[in-house]
Amino acid sequence: MTSSASLDAPAPARGFAHPAIGRAGGKAILFGEHSVVYGHPAIAVPLPEVAVRAAVQLTTGAGRLRSALYTGPLTRAPQRLLPTVTALDAALSALCPPGTSALLEVESDIPAERGLGSSAAVAAAVISAVAEAAGVALSRDERFELIQIAERAAHGRPSGLDARAVCATQPLWFQAGAVRDLPLGAPLHLVVADTGVRGRTGEAVAAVRERLAADPHDTGAQLGELGALADAAGAQLRVGDLPAVGAAMDRAHAVLDLLGVSDPALDRLASAARQAGALGAKLTGGGRGGCVVALAPGRDEADRIAGALRRTGAAAVWTTTVPRAAEVSGTGAAEHTDSAERAVEATA
Ligand code: PMV
Repeated sequence: MTSSASLDAPAPARGFAHPAIGRAGGKAILFGEHSVVYGHPAIAVPLPEVAVRAAVQLTTGAGRLRSALYTGPLTRAPQRLLPTVTALDAALSALCPPGTSALLEVESDIPAERGLGSSAAVAAAVISAVAEAAGVALSRDERFELIQIAERAAHGRPSGLDARAVCATQPLWFQAGAVRDLPLGAPLHLVVADTGVRGRTGEAVAAVRERLAADPHDTGAQLGELGALADAAGAQLRVGDLPAVGAAMDRAHAVLDLLGVSDPALDRLASAARQAGALGAKLTGGGRGGCVVALAPGRDEADRIAGALRRTGAAAVWTTTVPRAAEVSGTGAAEHTDSAERAVEATA
Protein backbone atom coordinates (compact mmCIF):
# COMPACT_ATOMS: atom_id res chain seq x y z
CA MET A 1 0.00 0.00 0.00
CA THR A 2 1.33 3.42 -0.85
CA SER A 3 1.87 5.60 2.19
CA SER A 4 0.95 9.25 2.31
CA ALA A 5 3.16 9.75 5.38
CA SER A 6 5.60 11.99 3.52
CA LEU A 7 2.74 14.35 2.75
CA ASP A 8 1.76 14.55 6.41
CA ALA A 9 5.29 15.55 7.45
CA PRO A 10 6.04 19.22 8.22
CA ALA A 11 6.38 21.29 5.05
CA PRO A 12 9.93 21.28 3.73
CA ALA A 13 9.36 24.96 2.86
CA ARG A 14 12.39 25.06 0.62
CA GLY A 15 12.91 28.77 0.01
CA PHE A 16 9.58 29.64 1.64
CA ALA A 17 9.79 31.75 4.79
CA HIS A 18 6.19 31.22 5.94
CA PRO A 19 4.34 28.75 3.74
CA ALA A 20 0.63 28.07 4.21
CA ILE A 21 -0.29 24.43 3.67
CA GLY A 22 -3.34 22.89 2.02
CA ARG A 23 -4.09 19.19 1.68
CA ALA A 24 -6.62 17.02 -0.12
CA GLY A 25 -7.01 13.30 -0.65
CA GLY A 26 -7.95 11.08 -3.54
CA LYS A 27 -11.38 9.59 -4.22
CA ALA A 28 -12.88 6.55 -5.86
CA ILE A 29 -16.24 6.55 -7.62
CA LEU A 30 -18.23 3.47 -6.55
CA PHE A 31 -21.23 4.07 -8.80
CA GLY A 32 -22.40 6.54 -11.40
CA GLU A 33 -19.40 7.63 -13.46
CA HIS A 34 -20.60 8.90 -16.85
CA SER A 35 -24.31 8.61 -15.98
CA VAL A 36 -23.76 11.39 -13.38
CA VAL A 37 -23.02 13.76 -16.27
CA TYR A 38 -26.68 13.26 -17.34
CA GLY A 39 -28.18 13.97 -13.93
CA HIS A 40 -28.22 10.41 -12.56
CA PRO A 41 -26.96 9.81 -8.99
CA ALA A 42 -23.40 8.78 -8.11
CA ILE A 43 -21.61 7.45 -5.04
CA ALA A 44 -17.97 8.21 -4.21
CA VAL A 45 -15.70 7.45 -1.28
CA PRO A 46 -12.63 9.28 0.00
CA LEU A 47 -9.30 7.56 -0.67
CA PRO A 48 -6.98 9.16 1.89
CA GLU A 49 -4.23 6.61 1.14
CA VAL A 50 -3.21 8.98 -1.65
CA ALA A 51 -2.97 12.73 -1.11
CA VAL A 52 -1.73 16.10 -2.31
CA ARG A 53 0.06 18.74 -0.25
CA ALA A 54 0.38 22.30 -1.51
CA ALA A 55 2.57 24.97 0.11
CA VAL A 56 1.93 28.60 -0.77
CA GLN A 57 3.70 31.81 0.06
CA LEU A 58 2.07 34.97 -1.23
CA THR A 59 4.28 37.50 -3.01
CA THR A 60 3.98 40.67 -5.05
CA GLY A 61 6.91 39.45 -7.16
CA ALA A 62 6.89 36.86 -9.94
CA GLY A 63 5.00 33.65 -9.23
CA ARG A 64 6.91 30.35 -9.25
CA LEU A 65 5.94 26.70 -9.13
CA ARG A 66 7.92 23.78 -7.78
CA SER A 67 6.53 20.30 -8.54
CA ALA A 68 7.64 16.90 -9.76
CA LEU A 69 6.54 17.82 -13.28
CA TYR A 70 7.94 21.32 -13.56
CA THR A 71 9.90 23.87 -11.57
CA GLY A 72 10.10 27.47 -12.76
CA PRO A 73 8.09 30.63 -13.41
CA LEU A 74 4.33 30.09 -13.34
CA THR A 75 4.03 31.91 -16.65
CA ARG A 76 6.05 29.15 -18.35
CA ALA A 77 4.35 26.13 -16.75
CA PRO A 78 3.52 23.42 -19.31
CA GLN A 79 -0.01 23.00 -20.67
CA ARG A 80 -0.44 19.84 -18.60
CA LEU A 81 -0.31 21.98 -15.45
CA LEU A 82 -3.02 24.35 -16.68
CA PRO A 83 -5.55 23.07 -14.07
CA THR A 84 -3.03 23.72 -11.26
CA VAL A 85 -2.20 27.21 -12.54
CA THR A 86 -5.92 27.88 -13.07
CA ALA A 87 -6.69 26.84 -9.46
CA LEU A 88 -3.98 29.16 -8.17
CA ASP A 89 -5.11 32.10 -10.33
CA ALA A 90 -8.76 31.58 -9.37
CA ALA A 91 -7.92 31.49 -5.66
CA LEU A 92 -5.58 34.49 -5.85
CA SER A 93 -8.08 36.65 -7.70
CA ALA A 94 -10.98 35.62 -5.42
CA LEU A 95 -9.15 35.84 -2.09
CA CYS A 96 -6.17 38.22 -2.37
CA PRO A 97 -5.56 41.89 -3.25
CA PRO A 98 -4.96 42.60 -6.95
CA GLY A 99 -1.36 42.04 -8.02
CA THR A 100 -0.77 39.20 -5.55
CA SER A 101 1.11 36.18 -6.88
CA ALA A 102 2.50 33.11 -5.14
CA LEU A 103 5.38 30.77 -4.68
CA LEU A 104 3.70 27.38 -4.94
CA GLU A 105 5.04 23.92 -4.17
CA VAL A 106 2.93 20.85 -4.95
CA GLU A 107 3.68 17.30 -3.81
CA SER A 108 1.31 14.51 -4.72
CA ASP A 109 1.21 10.75 -4.56
CA ILE A 110 -2.13 10.57 -6.39
CA PRO A 111 -1.28 9.20 -9.82
CA ALA A 112 -2.42 11.67 -12.46
CA GLU A 113 -5.21 10.79 -14.90
CA ARG A 114 -6.15 7.48 -13.28
CA GLY A 115 -9.66 8.40 -12.12
CA LEU A 116 -8.55 8.95 -8.51
CA GLY A 117 -9.26 12.68 -8.46
CA SER A 118 -5.72 13.97 -8.94
CA SER A 119 -6.64 17.20 -10.75
CA ALA A 120 -9.47 18.08 -8.34
CA ALA A 121 -7.32 17.23 -5.29
CA VAL A 122 -4.44 19.39 -6.51
CA ALA A 123 -6.89 22.24 -7.07
CA ALA A 124 -8.45 21.71 -3.61
CA ALA A 125 -5.04 21.68 -1.89
CA VAL A 126 -3.82 24.79 -3.75
CA ILE A 127 -7.05 26.69 -3.03
CA SER A 128 -6.95 25.68 0.66
CA ALA A 129 -3.33 26.83 0.91
CA VAL A 130 -4.10 30.22 -0.69
CA ALA A 131 -7.11 30.65 1.61
CA GLU A 132 -4.91 29.85 4.60
CA ALA A 133 -2.21 32.28 3.41
CA ALA A 134 -4.83 35.00 2.87
CA GLY A 135 -6.49 34.34 6.24
CA VAL A 136 -9.84 33.59 4.58
CA ALA A 137 -12.17 30.81 5.82
CA LEU A 138 -13.81 29.39 2.71
CA SER A 139 -17.22 27.80 2.95
CA ARG A 140 -17.57 24.38 1.38
CA ASP A 141 -19.54 25.82 -1.53
CA GLU A 142 -17.04 28.64 -2.14
CA ARG A 143 -14.22 26.11 -2.26
CA PHE A 144 -16.27 23.86 -4.56
CA GLU A 145 -16.86 26.73 -7.02
CA LEU A 146 -13.13 27.53 -7.13
CA ILE A 147 -12.20 23.86 -7.67
CA GLN A 148 -14.74 23.68 -10.49
CA ILE A 149 -12.96 26.54 -12.30
CA ALA A 150 -9.81 24.40 -12.37
CA GLU A 151 -11.76 21.25 -13.22
CA ARG A 152 -13.25 22.98 -16.25
CA ALA A 153 -9.69 23.64 -17.44
CA ALA A 154 -8.97 19.91 -16.94
CA HIS A 155 -12.13 18.25 -18.28
CA GLY A 156 -14.36 20.74 -20.09
CA ARG A 157 -17.74 20.31 -18.36
CA PRO A 158 -17.20 18.28 -15.17
CA SER A 159 -20.26 17.10 -13.25
CA GLY A 160 -18.76 18.39 -9.98
CA LEU A 161 -18.55 14.89 -8.47
CA ASP A 162 -14.73 14.97 -8.24
CA ALA A 163 -14.67 18.49 -6.78
CA ARG A 164 -17.07 17.37 -4.03
CA ALA A 165 -15.47 13.95 -3.48
CA VAL A 166 -11.90 15.17 -2.87
CA CYS A 167 -13.20 17.37 -0.05
CA ALA A 168 -15.30 14.61 1.52
CA THR A 169 -14.40 12.72 4.66
CA GLN A 170 -17.25 10.22 4.27
CA PRO A 171 -18.94 8.38 1.42
CA LEU A 172 -21.08 10.78 -0.49
CA TRP A 173 -24.16 10.71 -2.62
CA PHE A 174 -24.09 13.18 -5.50
CA GLN A 175 -26.80 14.15 -7.94
CA ALA A 176 -27.19 17.17 -10.20
CA GLY A 177 -24.63 19.20 -8.26
CA ALA A 178 -26.05 18.45 -4.80
CA VAL A 179 -24.31 16.24 -2.23
CA ARG A 180 -25.15 14.52 1.00
CA ASP A 181 -23.42 12.07 3.29
CA LEU A 182 -24.12 8.40 2.69
CA PRO A 183 -23.85 6.60 6.05
CA LEU A 184 -22.67 3.00 5.68
CA GLY A 185 -24.30 0.07 7.50
CA ALA A 186 -21.05 -1.92 7.30
CA PRO A 187 -17.42 -0.98 6.69
CA LEU A 188 -16.22 -1.20 3.10
CA HIS A 189 -12.95 -2.99 2.48
CA LEU A 190 -11.89 -1.72 -0.92
CA VAL A 191 -8.98 -2.50 -3.18
CA VAL A 192 -8.03 0.01 -5.86
CA ALA A 193 -5.66 -1.10 -8.61
CA ASP A 194 -4.04 1.01 -11.31
CA THR A 195 -3.68 -0.37 -14.83
CA GLY A 196 -0.72 2.01 -15.24
CA VAL A 197 -2.43 3.43 -18.32
CA ARG A 198 -3.45 7.09 -18.20
CA GLY A 199 -7.22 7.39 -18.23
CA ARG A 200 -8.77 9.58 -20.88
CA THR A 201 -11.75 11.07 -19.08
CA GLY A 202 -12.37 13.93 -21.51
CA GLU A 203 -12.24 11.57 -24.48
CA ALA A 204 -14.44 8.96 -22.76
CA VAL A 205 -17.05 11.60 -21.79
CA ALA A 206 -17.09 12.90 -25.39
CA ALA A 207 -17.44 9.35 -26.76
CA VAL A 208 -20.45 8.65 -24.51
CA ARG A 209 -22.02 11.94 -25.62
CA GLU A 210 -21.58 10.97 -29.29
CA ARG A 211 -22.97 7.50 -28.62
CA LEU A 212 -26.02 9.02 -26.93
CA ALA A 213 -26.61 11.36 -29.89
CA ALA A 214 -26.29 8.47 -32.37
CA ASP A 215 -28.33 5.94 -30.39
CA PRO A 216 -30.44 7.73 -27.80
CA HIS A 217 -32.61 4.70 -27.02
CA ASP A 218 -29.98 2.09 -26.11
CA THR A 219 -27.38 4.48 -24.73
CA GLY A 220 -30.03 6.33 -22.73
CA ALA A 221 -31.17 2.98 -21.29
CA GLN A 222 -27.57 2.10 -20.32
CA LEU A 223 -27.06 5.45 -18.60
CA GLY A 224 -30.41 4.95 -16.88
CA GLU A 225 -29.34 1.50 -15.70
CA LEU A 226 -26.13 2.94 -14.23
CA GLY A 227 -28.26 5.48 -12.39
CA ALA A 228 -30.62 2.75 -11.14
CA LEU A 229 -27.65 0.69 -9.94
CA ALA A 230 -26.37 3.72 -7.98
CA ASP A 231 -29.84 4.22 -6.52
CA ALA A 232 -30.11 0.60 -5.43
CA ALA A 233 -26.54 0.54 -4.13
CA GLY A 234 -27.25 3.60 -1.98
CA ALA A 235 -29.91 1.62 -0.12
CA GLN A 236 -27.73 -1.54 -0.01
CA LEU A 237 -24.78 0.42 1.43
CA ARG A 238 -27.00 1.94 4.13
CA VAL A 239 -28.03 -1.49 5.38
CA GLY A 240 -24.63 -3.11 4.80
CA ASP A 241 -25.80 -5.61 2.16
CA LEU A 242 -22.32 -6.01 0.70
CA PRO A 243 -23.01 -9.02 -1.58
CA ALA A 244 -25.73 -6.96 -3.28
CA VAL A 245 -23.36 -3.99 -3.60
CA GLY A 246 -20.73 -6.27 -5.13
CA ALA A 247 -23.21 -7.67 -7.65
CA ALA A 248 -24.22 -4.10 -8.57
CA MET A 249 -20.53 -3.22 -9.09
CA ASP A 250 -20.12 -6.17 -11.47
CA ARG A 251 -23.18 -5.13 -13.43
CA ALA A 252 -22.04 -1.47 -13.51
CA HIS A 253 -18.72 -2.60 -15.00
CA ALA A 254 -20.54 -4.60 -17.68
CA VAL A 255 -22.73 -1.60 -18.57
CA LEU A 256 -19.72 0.76 -18.64
CA ASP A 257 -18.10 -1.74 -21.01
CA LEU A 258 -21.21 -1.61 -23.24
CA LEU A 259 -20.89 2.18 -23.18
CA GLY A 260 -17.38 1.78 -24.60
CA VAL A 261 -15.37 3.16 -21.68
CA SER A 262 -13.69 -0.02 -20.39
CA ASP A 263 -10.62 -1.59 -21.97
CA PRO A 264 -8.84 -4.97 -21.82
CA ALA A 265 -6.51 -3.94 -18.98
CA LEU A 266 -9.46 -2.79 -16.83
CA ASP A 267 -11.43 -5.95 -17.68
CA ARG A 268 -8.44 -8.13 -16.75
CA LEU A 269 -7.95 -6.48 -13.35
CA ALA A 270 -11.69 -6.59 -12.58
CA SER A 271 -11.81 -10.34 -13.41
CA ALA A 272 -8.67 -11.04 -11.39
CA ALA A 273 -10.22 -9.31 -8.38
CA ARG A 274 -13.41 -11.40 -8.69
CA GLN A 275 -11.42 -14.62 -9.05
CA ALA A 276 -9.45 -13.71 -5.92
CA GLY A 277 -12.68 -13.43 -3.91
CA ALA A 278 -13.97 -9.89 -4.47
CA LEU A 279 -17.72 -9.46 -3.99
CA GLY A 280 -17.63 -7.23 -7.05
CA ALA A 281 -15.26 -5.12 -9.14
CA LYS A 282 -15.55 -2.36 -11.70
CA LEU A 283 -13.62 0.40 -13.38
CA THR A 284 -13.66 3.66 -11.45
CA GLY A 285 -13.61 7.16 -12.94
CA GLY A 286 -13.69 8.04 -16.60
CA GLY A 287 -12.22 4.73 -17.81
CA ARG A 288 -10.21 3.96 -20.99
CA GLY A 289 -7.23 3.42 -18.71
CA GLY A 290 -7.05 4.33 -15.05
CA CYS A 291 -8.14 2.14 -12.15
CA VAL A 292 -10.50 -0.55 -10.96
CA VAL A 293 -12.12 -0.71 -7.53
CA ALA A 294 -12.98 -4.05 -5.91
CA LEU A 295 -15.11 -4.75 -2.83
CA ALA A 296 -13.65 -7.38 -0.47
CA PRO A 297 -15.65 -9.30 2.15
CA GLY A 298 -13.08 -8.38 4.84
CA ARG A 299 -9.64 -6.94 5.51
CA ASP A 300 -7.72 -10.21 5.05
CA GLU A 301 -9.50 -10.89 1.79
CA ALA A 302 -8.66 -7.34 0.68
CA ASP A 303 -4.97 -8.08 1.20
CA ARG A 304 -5.32 -11.34 -0.74
CA ILE A 305 -7.11 -9.55 -3.60
CA ALA A 306 -4.42 -6.84 -3.58
CA GLY A 307 -1.75 -9.54 -3.96
CA ALA A 308 -3.63 -11.14 -6.85
CA LEU A 309 -3.96 -7.77 -8.60
CA ARG A 310 -0.22 -7.10 -8.23
CA ARG A 311 0.51 -10.53 -9.72
CA THR A 312 -1.89 -9.72 -12.59
CA GLY A 313 0.28 -6.73 -13.44
CA ALA A 314 -1.33 -3.75 -11.66
CA ALA A 315 1.08 -0.81 -11.62
CA ALA A 316 -0.02 0.14 -8.09
CA VAL A 317 -2.54 -1.20 -5.59
CA TRP A 318 -4.08 0.47 -2.53
CA THR A 319 -6.35 -0.99 0.11
CA THR A 320 -8.65 1.21 2.13
CA THR A 321 -11.34 0.66 4.73
CA VAL A 322 -14.24 3.10 4.68
CA PRO A 323 -15.71 2.93 8.20
CA ARG A 324 -19.38 2.44 8.90
CA ALA A 325 -21.25 5.56 10.00
CA ALA A 326 -20.82 5.07 13.76
CA GLU A 327 -17.04 4.61 13.36
CA VAL A 328 -16.40 7.82 11.43
CA SER A 329 -13.84 9.71 13.50
CA GLY A 330 -13.97 13.09 11.81
CA THR A 331 -10.45 12.85 10.42
CA GLY A 332 -10.37 12.78 6.68
CA ALA A 333 -8.92 13.69 3.40
CA ALA A 334 -9.47 17.39 3.14
CA GLU A 335 -8.01 20.14 5.21
CA HIS A 336 -10.28 22.92 6.50
CA THR A 337 -13.18 20.47 6.76
CA ASP A 338 -14.83 20.88 10.13
CA SER A 339 -17.74 18.90 11.46
CA ALA A 340 -20.23 21.54 10.36
CA GLU A 341 -18.89 21.27 6.85
CA ARG A 342 -19.11 17.50 6.98
CA ALA A 343 -22.83 17.74 7.68
CA VAL A 344 -23.27 18.10 3.97
CA GLU A 345 -26.58 19.62 2.95
CA ALA A 346 -29.32 17.05 2.48
CA THR A 347 -30.55 18.41 -0.79
CA ALA A 348 -30.32 15.36 -3.03
O1 PMV B 1 -11.87 10.16 -14.34
P1 PMV B 1 -12.37 11.00 -13.22
O2 PMV B 1 -11.98 10.57 -11.86
O3 PMV B 1 -12.11 12.47 -13.43
O4 PMV B 1 -13.99 10.83 -13.16
C1 PMV B 1 -14.79 11.32 -14.15
C2 PMV B 1 -16.22 11.00 -13.82
C3 PMV B 1 -17.13 11.23 -15.02
O5 PMV B 1 -18.44 10.91 -14.57
C4 PMV B 1 -16.75 10.31 -16.16
C5 PMV B 1 -17.10 12.67 -15.53
C6 PMV B 1 -17.74 13.68 -14.59
O6 PMV B 1 -17.62 14.89 -14.91
O7 PMV B 1 -18.39 13.31 -13.60
